[in-house]
Amino acid sequence: MVEAVQDAGVVVTGAGGGIGAALARRFAAEGARVVVNDLDADRAKAVAGEIGGIAVPGDASAIVAEARDALGGTVDVYCANAGLGSGGTEAAEEEVWAKAWDLNVMAHVRAARALLPDWLERGEGRFVSTVSAAGLLTMIGAAPYSVTKHGAFAFAEWLSLTYRHRGLKVHAICPQGVRTDMLTASGSAGELVLAPTAIDPEDVADALFEGIENNRFLILPHPEVAGYYRARAAEPDRWLAGMNHIQQKWEAGR
Ligand SMILES: NC(=O)c1ccc[n+]([C@@H]2O[C@H](COP(=O)([O-])OP(=O)(O)OC[C@H]3O[C@@H](n4cnc5c(N)ncnc54)[C@H](O)[C@@H]3O)[C@@H](O)[C@H]2O)c1
Repeated sequence: MVEAVQDAGVVVTGAGGGIGAALARRFAAEGARVVVNDLDADRAKAVAGEIGGIAVPGDASAIVAEARDALGGTVDVYCANAGLGSGGTEAAEEEVWAKAWDLNVMAHVRAARALLPDWLERGEGRFVSTVSAAGLLTMIGAAPYSVTKHGAFAFAEWLSLTYRHRGLKVHAICPQGVRTDMLTASGSAGELVLAPTAIDPEDVADALFEGIENNRFLILPHPEVAGYYRARAAEPDRWLAGMNHIQQKWEAGR
């Protein structure tokens, strides 16, 4: 059991399935009181019922007040997990870009805005952002996803460096493929670059808890991502050439 989360009031957005449901189950198993949010009310209620949590359905952008009430006045841990897998190129519709920006980035900003006053006053709080390895690297065939996940990572990083001396703990989870509905929906690009090394949602929860115990910001459920991230920073052109090679392989196989 991880002491930091026992009896904590925890909110997980997009927890009706996939990674969010695995996070909610793990927090509940560790003794936390869990608010299960999802846009799909039936899915939120099903997971909440299973783990003895509280369902707070709705858009992840605007649930902090209701979740706080449900937890008796205090949110200790907030997992900004709900995300859209928005694929496409620069030609993706404006609406696709706007929705990706709204959920993958602005929902995190809005939650932080609602949570920080209380956290700073109390001198503690924990913000968990489910980003993606695409937020450190990129995702073939998915410009809106890659760009907005870079935004989510930048925001988590900014929160961490700005408020860590005031008691805020931030974790940015950056997995590659995880076996969920989103991976299934990612099509041939997902099959090429994500499926071969895909892990289960429970593995992501394990990695987060290992990171909580060791007070680590960057959570890499696929440890090899650290090497790719280093390579990208050290030799950008070589890294881009390698990624373009994968792009061409994907185009040839479609
Ligand atoms: N599956 C992967 O390979 C993978 C890899 C890296 C990162 N991620 C990230 O993990 C997070 C969870 O993805 P997943 O794979 O579990 O997806 P998923 O599709 O299995 O689950 C996402 C859940 O979020 C809910 N949701 C959608 N819009 C919402 C909104 N506006 N408000 C509240 N809930 C909403 C959906 O109903 C669904 O239950 C996402 O941020 C995703 O980008 C996924």
